[in-house]
Amino acid sequence: AQVLPKIRPSDAERTKLEAVKAELLETICKTAEMFGEDDIVPISVGSAERSTWLSGNHDIDLFVSYPEDVSRQDMETRSRRLLMEVAKSGDSWEDRHSEHPYIHITKGGFEVDLVPCFRVKSASDIKSAVDRTPFHCCFIKERIPGKQDDVLLLKQFMKSSGVYGSEVRNGGFSGYLTELLVIWYGSFEDVLKNAASWRFGQTIDIMGHQTLAHEDPLVVIDPTDPKRNVAAALSLTRFAQFINAAQRYMKNPSAEFFVKKEYAPLPVAEFKNIMKKRGTEWVGVAFDAPQKADDTLYPQLFRLENSLGEILTVNDFAVMNTHAFAGDKCIILVELMSRMLPPLQRRVGPPVWAADNAQSFYGKYKDADETFTLKIKNEYLVAEIVRKYQTAESLIADKILKEAALGRHVRAAVSDGYQIIGLDEICQIQDPAFWKWMNEKLT
Ligand code: CTP
Ligand code: MN
Ligand code: MN
Repeated sequence: AQVLPKIRPSDAERTKLEAVKAELLETICKTAEMFGEDDIVPISVGSAERSTWLSGNHDIDLFVSYPEDVSRQDMETRSRRLLMEVAKSGDSWEDRHSEHPYIHITKGGFEVDLVPCFRVKSASDIKSAVDRTPFHCCFIKERIPGKQDDVLLLKQFMKSSGVYGSEVRNGGFSGYLTELLVIWYGSFEDVLKNAASWRFGQTIDIMGHQTLAHEDPLVVIDPTDPKRNVAAALSLTRFAQFINAAQRYMKNPSAEFFVKKEYAPLPVAEFKNIMKKRGTEWVGVAFDAPQKADDTLYPQLFRLENSLGEILTVNDFAVMNTHAFAGDKCIILVELMSRMLPPLQRRVGPPVWAADNAQSFYGKYKDADETFTLKIKNEYLVAEIVRKYQTAESLIADKILKEAALGRHVRAAVSDGYQIIGLDEICQIQDPAFWKWMNEKLT
C-alpha cells in the first residue's frame, strides 16, 4: 500500500500514453494506405498494452507484422520505408538493431520501438526472433487482469535489486518473465515466498509442455513456444541476487526494498580515498569502443574480462574483482591484492617416485636461471625460480593478443591499439558515465 501509489501510473500519465499510442497506430495505418501496403497489421505489444508499466517508464512497443511468405529482404525494405515515414511524426529517431533492424523514436516524451515482424501461425514456427512477441502479448493479456499491481511491485522490487532488464549487458529478468512468474505463483508476495527457496535449475512449466534439457539457472518454459526457455538470458549472478533479495524481504519486508539507489558520478578524490581504504590495486585495459550494439559488444567484453582474470590468476596474481565498462572507450578493470609479485616463483613438480618425470622436471629448471634451487616438500619436487611476470602489466601486455579470449570486434579494436592502465590512468578518465558506474561498483 505504501509502494503502489508511487509506482502506479496516474490517470493523466495513462491517458497521455494511450493518446500517443493511438496516434502512432493511426499514423502507421495511414502511411501503409499511402504506400498501398494493405497486407500489414500494426500490433501494440509490451507492458503498455498490458497495463504493467511502471510510472515514469515511458516505453511503447509497436510491432508491424508482414505475411509469412514475404521474404526477409522484402520485409526489411518495405518496413524501412514505412517506419521511416512514421518516424517523421515523432520528435527524433534512430536506427537500432536486435535480430533485424528496427526504428526507435521519441514522441511526446515517450520512447517508442517500431519493430517489423512476420505474422506466423504459431510461436514455434517463427521466421525471426521477434515473431513470438505478439503471442506472448496475447498469453499475458488473457491472464494478467487483476494482477497488474503485483507485476508492478515485482518489477520495481527487481529494479531496486538491480536484477530487472534482460539485455545482455545486464542479464536480468525480462518484463514477460516477471509477468509469467506472477501468473504462475499468483501474486507478488507468492513469487518472493517461492523464490526464496529456489535452487539452480528451478523449472516452471505453466502449460505442462514437459520439454526440458536446458542447463540454465532458471527454466521457464515458454507457454507459447515449448522449445524456448524464457529465462535463457538470466545470468547465474542475477538469479542468485534475486533469491537473496527475496530471502531478505520475506524475513523483514519493508518499503525500502522498492527504492532504487541512484548513483552520482564518484568524485576522483573520493575514489582515491576508497582505494586507500581498500588497499587493493588496479590493472586494466582500455581501447576504443567498437561501434556495435550492446548485445553484440557486451558478450565479447565479458569474455575478455573473464579471460584476463583467469590469466592473472594462473600466474599467481590474487584477483579480487573484475569489471567491464563500455563508453567511448571500452575499459576492462581487474582489482588485485597486489599488481607486483616477488621475483621468487615456486613451481610444484611431480612426486619423487615418478622418477622419470622428476628427472625431467629437474633438468628443465636446473639451467633455467642461476637462482634455481630445488626443494622437496613431502613427496613433491619444488623448483624455486625467477618469476617471468613480476607485474600484472607485463603479464597482460605479453598475453592479451596471444592468449586472451577476444571476440571478433574486440580483437579488431584491441589490435588497433590499447592502453594498459592502473590507478593513475583511471583517475584521468573524464567520462561521467564511467564514474557513475564506478560508484555503483565500489559503494
Ligand atoms: N521486443 C522485441 N524487440 C525490441 C523491443 C521489444 O522483440 N526491439 C519485444 C520483447 O521481446 C518484449 C516486448 O517486445 O516481449 C516488449 O519489450 P520490452 O519493452 O523490453 O519489455 P516490456 O514487457 O514492455 O517491459 P517494460 O515494462 O520494461 O517496458
Ligand atoms: Mn516495453
Ligand atoms: Mn521497449
